[in-house]
Amino acid sequence: MLSVESINTFYDRSHILHDVSFEAGGDEVVALLGRNGVGKTTTMKSVMGLTPPRSGRITFEGEDITGNRSDDIANRGIGYVPQNRGMFPNLTVHENLRMGLGTAPRQESRFEAVYDRFPRVEERLNQRAGTLSGGEQQMVAMARALVRDPKLVLMDEPTEGLMPALIPEIADITQNIADAGYAIVLVEQNVDLVLDIADRVYLMDNGRIQEHATPDQLRESEEILERYLGVQ
Ligand SMILES: Nc1ncnc2c1ncn2[C@@H]1O[C@H](COP(=O)(O)OP(=O)(O)OP(=O)(O)O)[C@@H](O)[C@H]1O
Ligand SMILES: [Mg+2]
Repeated sequence: MLSVESINTFYDRSHILHDVSFEAGGDEVVALLGRNGVGKTTTMKSVMGLTPPRSGRITFEGEDITGNRSDDIANRGIGYVPQNRGMFPNLTVHENLRMGLGTAPRQESRFEAVYDRFPRVEERLNQRAGTLSGGEQQMVAMARALVRDPKLVLMDEPTEGLMPALIPEIADITQNIADAGYAIVLVEQNVDLVLDIADRVYLMDNGRIQEHATPDQLRESEEILERYLGVQ
């Protein structure tokens, strides 16, 4: 479904991503793990066309999308839940959800489907997004990605900054989205969540993908997690 082939991404003259390659298949949850600043968000933004790579190739469903506008990439079926949620705090929840449509045609059935999945979002449609709790804002950010009817959803650190008590709920929602048949590329620093949900894990360091493993392999090799995350 998504294939990232040896991309190199820069901010001005800083070379951030070095020959990054990975794939995400039709109904997989693929995770990118790595410490702060290794290039996880830049990888997501490169796929979305927000920081287009200077070289390499990105294909989605067999079509080359490298260098396409992000709105076009979203219309093709890639949803994006950005790190820090990207809420418009002074807009209502409903207005935030509508922003998720971009130039896609509005389909009422999509909104209804999303409300079914996120009843707490529906309860708060007329509330300003900035007044929601962190967990609720994360749900709005996920709902906003889903109203456009993506096939693949990129999620950048959905549990970041949340109270520990809320993390299982966000994990359940992520698992439910995966079970509903969406492909997911998940960036997370919560290793337990990743090992529970992901089918495959790519480990990043210094703007490079260094290793590729299954959750079972990582559970058995604390050494790998220690090397790339400094945990356990
Ligand atoms: N807009 C920018 N301009 C210049 N450099 C940037 C910009 N955004 C990120 N960087 C740099 O690019 C590198 C990778 O950043 P990135 O945000 O992709 O990391 P990350 O793995 O997502 O980190 P975190 O876990 O903290 O979210 C870092 O060195 C960062 O300082
Ligand atoms: Mg990041």
